[in-house]
Order: sequence, then C-alpha cells, then structure tokens
Amino acid sequence: MSAGAPAIPLGYAPIDALHAEFDACVAALTDAPAERLPAALSAVRAHVLRHFGDEERWMRESAFPAFDCHQREHDKVLDVLAEVERRFAEGDDEVVRRLATELPNWFSIHAATMDAALVAWLGANAVVASP
Ligand SMILES: [Fe+2]
Ligand SMILES: [Fe+2]
Repeated sequence: MSAGAPAIPLGYAPIDALHAEFDACVAALTDAPAERLPAALSAVRAHVLRHFGDEERWMRESAFPAFDCHQREHDKVLDVLAEVERRFAEGDDEVVRRLATELPNWFSIHAATMDAALVAWLGANAVVASP
C-alpha cells in the first residue's frame, strides 16, 4: 500500500505514514466492487493490526501514560471489525459498506485526540519511533 500524505497529518513521520496507509485502505474498501470486498476487508484487517501494533509498541517503549485508554480505543475497532467479518461471512455485504463509511468518522476523532497526544508525547520526549 503506497503512503502519500495522510488526510490528518500529525507531524510525526512514522505515524503519518501509517495514517496515509489507513486512508488508502479505507478508500480501497469504499471503492471496492462486490467481488473485491473480501480482499479489501482483509487488507483493512492486516493494516489495522500493524498500525495499532506499532503505535502500542511505541507507547510501551516510551512509557506513554495514557496507554490503556488508547489501547482500549484500538481494541474497540478490532471488536467491531471481527463482528463485521462474521456478518460478512454470513452474506451481509451492507455491513462492510457501513464499516467503510464509519471508519473515517472514528479515525478523524481518534487521530485528533489519541494519536495526536501520542505524537506530542513522543516529540516532547525526543523518542524516535523504531520501524
Ligand atoms: Fe493511528
Ligand atoms: Fe491510535
């Protein structure tokens, strides 16, 4: 997945790169014709696991104080994704379309709050996020 500039740049390159990938994955899900939905949904899962995993590792490595709160928000998305995948496997395409609509709404708030706080913390503590 190519990474350009994210819709919501936070000024910390490793996280901005992940967020550009997030935008691209969600756009691919939004634009996917029916026959491409399984692959696009799988790509979203693969992306968010790495995205959330990297952020959580950087939080642990820097002893980020709001780790639990931030991780809970990630976990809620993973729970929703698991439910969407379950219903999609039962033949419900519409639930995937709703996910594609809702993910950007969730992300705009998450990026502006949780991720922005993490970026401020990493910057203030001069931590260089490892790839
Ligand atoms: Fe993020
Ligand atoms: Fe996050």
